[in-house]
Amino acid sequence: MSIIQLPPREDSVPAPKITAQTLLERKQAHQPITALTAYDYSTARLVDQAGIDMVLVGDSLGQAVLGYDSTLPVTMDEMLHHTRAVRRAVRHALLVADMPFGSYHSSTYEAIANATRFIKEAGAEAVKIEGGRNRAELVSTITQAEIAVVGHIGLTPQSVHRIGYRVQGKSVTAIDDLIADARALEAAGAIAVVLECVPREAGGLITSALAIPTIGIGAGPDCDGQILVFHDLVNLTGAQPAKFVRRYADASALITEAVQHYASDVRDGTFPADAESYHLPREAGAELLAREPQKRSGR
Ligand code: KIV
Repeated sequence: MSIIQLPPREDSVPAPKITAQTLLERKQAHQPITALTAYDYSTARLVDQAGIDMVLVGDSLGQAVLGYDSTLPVTMDEMLHHTRAVRRAVRHALLVADMPFGSYHSSTYEAIANATRFIKEAGAEAVKIEGGRNRAELVSTITQAEIAVVGHIGLTPQSVHRIGYRVQGKSVTAIDDLIADARALEAAGAIAVVLECVPREAGGLITSALAIPTIGIGAGPDCDGQILVFHDLVNLTGAQPAKFVRRYADASALITEAVQHYASDVRDGTFPADAESYHLPREAGAELLAREPQKRSGR
C-alpha cells in the first residue's frame, strides 16, 4: 500500500451538483445526459472529476468486480459496501445505487427498508429497480417514502432465467408494451428510466412518450442520455463486448504491460533504484560506516 495521501476531494469539485431536477432540465433543453457505472473510490473519483452527470453503482458489480457470472448472486451487503466507497468520491454526479436481485421482490416492507439503507447508510441519492408495470406500485410506494427511483426496462439482467440476455422490444406490440411500462413508471414517480438493449426505434419512441429522461444502454442515440459499464468503456472485462459498447481505452493492455514491466524490473534488480529508497540521516549513516563491516551489514 502506498503511503502517498490522496488529495482531499473538496479541491476538485468540477461543477454544480447534479440532481433529479437537473436531469429533467437536461431533457427539456435537449442536452444529452452522461452516465457511467462505478464501484470503487478511485474510479468513481475519476468519473466524477470528468464531469459525468450520473454515477450508477450497478449490480453489474457482480460480473465487473466480484467475478460472478450474472448479477443474481449480488447481495445487499456487497452493494452497500461498494456504494459507500463510491459515495466518498462523488461530489458532482447524481449517485444512484442498484437494488440487487431479491432485495425488493419479497415484500413492499422489505423493499422500502432496503431502499432506505442505500440512502441512510451508503449516501445514495436514488435507487434503481428493474421492471415495468409490475413494479409501478412499488416505485410509487418507495417514492412516497421520499426515495427517488430510477426505473429499468428492456433487457433486465435480473430476469435472465426468464427472458435471457436478448434484445427486447423487437415487434410493434413489444414496443407498445415497453411504452406502457415506461409510462407506468413515470406515473409512479420515477425520476428517469434506463432502457437496455432495445431497437433504436423503441428507444426513440419511449423517449418521446415520456416527460422524464430516458438513459439508454444499447437503446440507440435518441435517448435523453447514455450509460455504459465503466469496465466495458476501458476494456477491463476480458470478455467480448456487446454490440453497443464502444471502447475508449484499453486498460487491460495498459495494466498488463505495466505489471509485466514491474515484474521484469524486480527480477533483473533494476527496481527499486537508489532514488526510490529511503536513506539514513547523515549522522546515522556515518555511525553505520564507522562500525566493523560484519556489524554494518546487520548479519
Ligand atoms: O448494473 C448495471 O450496470 C446496470 C446498467 C447496465 C444500466 O444496470
